[in-house]
Amino acid sequence: MNTEQKLQKNFIENKNVFQAEAFFLDLSKKMYDQTFIAENPVLNPKISSIHRKKIVGEYSGLIYAIVGFLSKARYRLKGDSDIASELDNNISEERGSRTQGISHQALFSGGVLREKGIALSEMPWGETTLNFLNRIDDVLSKGSRSQVAGVAYALEATAVPELQVIEKIFSKIPSVRTPADLQTGLDTFISMHINDFEPGHRDRLAVALSKYLENNTFDPRAFQQAFQMVLDAMDLWWAQLAKVEA
Ligand SMILES: [Fe+2]
Ligand SMILES: [Fe+2]
Repeated sequence: MNTEQKLQKNFIENKNVFQAEAFFLDLSKKMYDQTFIAENPVLNPKISSIHRKKIVGEYSGLIYAIVGFLSKARYRLKGDSDIASELDNNISEERGSRTQGISHQALFSGGVLREKGIALSEMPWGETTLNFLNRIDDVLSKGSRSQVAGVAYALEATAVPELQVIEKIFSKIPSVRTPADLQTGLDTFISMHINDFEPGHRDRLAVALSKYLENNTFDPRAFQQAFQMVLDAMDLWWAQLAKVEA
């Protein structure tokens, strides 16, 4: 085999080697181009204060659903122990393992009630949110395991940019009260998620997933297609929330 043939052979072999780092970097780049992250329509200054509160109410649907989604993914992927144990950790955190046993959902709903005067308990989710949640649930129930893994990763990867949108909405809703205890305040909730909980969930899950993508347990194309499905569903959801009249 001459040099050129060797180079050609190496090139073909390398092309077939799954590059986890480049793969996840590419997913992240595409994610940040999605409209709901790059320029979320709910941040339109013309949106009324009542409408903004309604958007927070609809968004809470995802916060309530996340433990169920991750649990379903964990169940579907239970044979893949590294991923299952990573999801176990994320589920435990959502349920309060690092917040004195108080679930993130309770911290969020308590915070928005006390500080923003939004009573989530009195706000049933609308059709838009239910359709969005159903689309995710559908893939988690009926999709292939590669697709389930793609959805789980999308849910963790989108958490930071979505919370940054929520943080901006909060800044436009006047506070009715400052938190008595900073530890359980909304600012702390958001910053802990953006700086600690969610980057940890995303990055540790990526590490766990890499092994299974590299050894072909998961099909990268099916994984990516499911990841993109979640992003597109989120784009549609946020666009509809921006339009819904309160
Ligand atoms: Fe959380
Ligand atoms: Fe998370």
